[in-house]
Amino acid sequence: MTPSNPTFPSVLLTASGSYLPQKIVTNDDLTKTLDTSDEWIRQRTGIAQRHIAAEDELTSDMAVAAAKQALNMAGLGADALDGIIVATTTPDDTFPSTASVVQRKLAATGFAFDVQAVCAGFIYGLDVGDAMIKAGKARKILVIGAETFSRILDWQDRSTAVLFGDGAGAVVLEASDGGENSAENWGILSSVIFTDGRFRDILYVDGGVARGQVGKVKMVGPDVFKHAVEKLANGLDQAMTQSGLGAEDIDWLVPHQANDRIIKTLQKKLKLPDERVIRTIARHANTSAASIPLAFDEAMRGKQIKAGDVVAFEAIGGGLAWGAAIVRVGRP
Ligand code: ACO
Repeated sequence: MTPSNPTFPSVLLTASGSYLPQKIVTNDDLTKTLDTSDEWIRQRTGIAQRHIAAEDELTSDMAVAAAKQALNMAGLGADALDGIIVATTTPDDTFPSTASVVQRKLAATGFAFDVQAVCAGFIYGLDVGDAMIKAGKARKILVIGAETFSRILDWQDRSTAVLFGDGAGAVVLEASDGGENSAENWGILSSVIFTDGRFRDILYVDGGVARGQVGKVKMVGPDVFKHAVEKLANGLDQAMTQSGLGAEDIDWLVPHQANDRIIKTLQKKLKLPDERVIRTIARHANTSAASIPLAFDEAMRGKQIKAGDVVAFEAIGGGLAWGAAIVRVGRP
């Protein structure tokens, strides 16, 4: 929960960046090796294509590319950062953290650590970064979502292989300064995170340290779908209540891009027309922790989302872990 005490600095979201690997795999490409069709994938999910990392391209490489763009937009050098948080489920190695690899590649200093909440990872990273800045432990933090999900997919399993893609997105969080309360009602207005470990078996990877192999994604899609609709609506409600804003105050929904049918139910809840919902699912598919910052960055660079706009973020993934955040973006 975000403290809404005026003695804490506001945590401004001042810049963003993103990266997509060059290689594009269309639905039709997948039909060459899988018993599926472009029509099925589009109708059930809204996905038309996905980007897939090159063989030598690592999660940290994509994270660094997104980070550089975000730092550039913020007008900051990497040396200005107090810390780096990387949300990822597909780290380069078991350890060190991908964040520490990113820190080395950026020649940054300060702290660096990963958060692992699968598709909800970016919201978790935002929540943790917000709390650290409000607690006075840092003033500038880079929050990155980066994934090479293609490496943990069973490419023979049509129920999961068609859903995911690779990519990275990043945002810069900065403590407000200037006059007292000068940034009140700007930045991260609220963020909420939840986990319910009882639902492990409907979405997991059948590998890990104990099993001695990386493993592949397993999902009971219809069950995850039902939980997503209910839990995301609930998370958004709680985030809005904590921010003191109502659905009528939200300018943009930047949802996790897992399934267009899930996005539509949340769009309906916020009563937002299509022009106010950022949709990248057709081109990016589900890039897990990267999906929200990727979509957000495209909308910032496309001049759709502008400074002062109120944005709602929401995501759910394996855990089950989910969350939502309400942010007035930019600087006052
Ligand atoms: N192509 C063609 N047919 C397929 C495919 C495919 N790629 N995949 C499944 N089917 C078939 C099934 O075998 C089934 O056939 P049957 O009726 O003969 O048994 C039929 O299509 C319907 O399958 P369902 O799984 O019931 O399809 P549904 O409409 O639920 O769509 C989907 C599946 C897209 C996965 C949906 O359930 C979904 O999006 N779930 C939520 C995913 C999500 O939000 N994940 C969260 C984040 S992911 C993370 O954290 C890693």
